[in-house]
Amino acid sequence: MKVAIGCDHGGINLKPLLIEYLQKKGIEYVDFGCHDKTSVDYNEYALAVSNAVAKGECDKGVLICGTGIGMSIVANKVKGIRCGHCHDVFSAKMTRLHNDANVLAFGERVVGPGLAMEIVDAFLTTDFSGDERHARRVNKIRAIEEENMK
Ligand code: RB5
Repeated sequence: MKVAIGCDHGGINLKPLLIEYLQKKGIEYVDFGCHDKTSVDYNEYALAVSNAVAKGECDKGVLICGTGIGMSIVANKVKGIRCGHCHDVFSAKMTRLHNDANVLAFGERVVGPGLAMEIVDAFLTTDFSGDERHARRVNKIRAIEEENMK
């Protein structure tokens, strides 16, 4: 598995810790920035990570900003991306099981580093359930994309 990871200045303290976690787990990753505390627009980092996942260059994406909100809004505008905005382990697990989310977004100003690590772990280690009802709903999301993101 290859993970695309990105943050804005609001997630700059957490990203290195998550990268350390990925390295310890032997998970391949691409760091799309940002790399310092200079104020930047979350849009470009969310787009870079989401495009890498949508194009199949990476399998999953992780986005961190202050709240995770801006990142998730942008990510969900990219065709093929289902971004879960999760601040607890249960939601991170469920967004994989039920929504087959391929990008996770959360806020450094919302969760501490320990919980953040567990959220990422749940997201990366949980497979889509594949249940017919969930697959049907994910396909309905794809149909909306086909209609609205031509
Ligand atoms: C940056 O101040 C902050 O607005 C951003 O990190 C994020 O929380 C936006 O949704």
